[in-house]
Amino acid sequence: MTERNKVTVTTLFQQIENNEPISWLTCYDYPTAYFQEQAGIDMILVGDSLGMTMLGYDSTLPVTMDDMVRHTQAVSRGAPTVFLVGDMPYMSYQPSVETAIINAGRLMAEATCDAVKLEGGAEMADRIEGIANAGIPAFGHLGLTPQSVSALGGFRVQGRGALQAKKIIDDAKILENAGAISILLEMVPDRVCKIITERAENCIIMSLGSGPHAHGQLLIYHDMFGLYHKFKPKMAKVFGNAGEVILNGLTQYHKEVHDQTFPQRKHWFIMKDDEYEELLELLD
Ligand code: KIV
Repeated sequence: MTERNKVTVTTLFQQIENNEPISWLTCYDYPTAYFQEQAGIDMILVGDSLGMTMLGYDSTLPVTMDDMVRHTQAVSRGAPTVFLVGDMPYMSYQPSVETAIINAGRLMAEATCDAVKLEGGAEMADRIEGIANAGIPAFGHLGLTPQSVSALGGFRVQGRGALQAKKIIDDAKILENAGAISILLEMVPDRVCKIITERAENCIIMSLGSGPHAHGQLLIYHDMFGLYHKFKPKMAKVFGNAGEVILNGLTQYHKEVHDQTFPQRKHWFIMKDDEYEELLELLD
């Protein structure tokens, strides 16, 4: 395990004070969390994108609170010092402020999150405020918000036009004033992200495909390692093709079992001759 101290809200604000960008990745399981911990990643998002990347749904909408708690617990065991953000799934906060606080509390208490994230602008400010007032660090999420993908007309850049950009900028300030400690901007133009970052007073602005001017960057783990075959977003740099490595290994395994070159002597366990003789006698 790495030696570093737990990353906290204070550490993160200190980092932006020192102009040190924050690294943030999605993660959904224990072994990947372990690697992210070893790599010194600052923050992890257990995103409801797990519905697509881990569970094979076509959207994030079917993901439940129980799914989120289960995966977040596993990540928390693998990455004890990373700042852990739990994503609030569809309909876990939309119905009311009370629902939002109760479900945010579950992510904190049962899954040992350090913060929770929810999607939406001004219309969700009272949820952010309620969660923050309950003592839970809250992250907002603006721009492309996958839980509203149907209303947004698909996975596309948000805020290209001046009016829509102004709304995103206004929403960011409203969420900050409601108590959001951080806001993720997903797929908004870099200039819009820059304005929001410059105007943020006490809020960490994070970018996913929104350019370099935010306080830090988020990537979807499965995109950065070629692990999701259904689509490859422009914003995702592939840092290594693990998907290709795994597929080659699986194909080779299948071949070796079929042509009987696997297993080899070193891959199995033997019984001594005398025990074997005794066994044969016992079986007679
Ligand atoms: O669920 C998730 O991983 C997210 C990202 C798309 C930002 O919310």
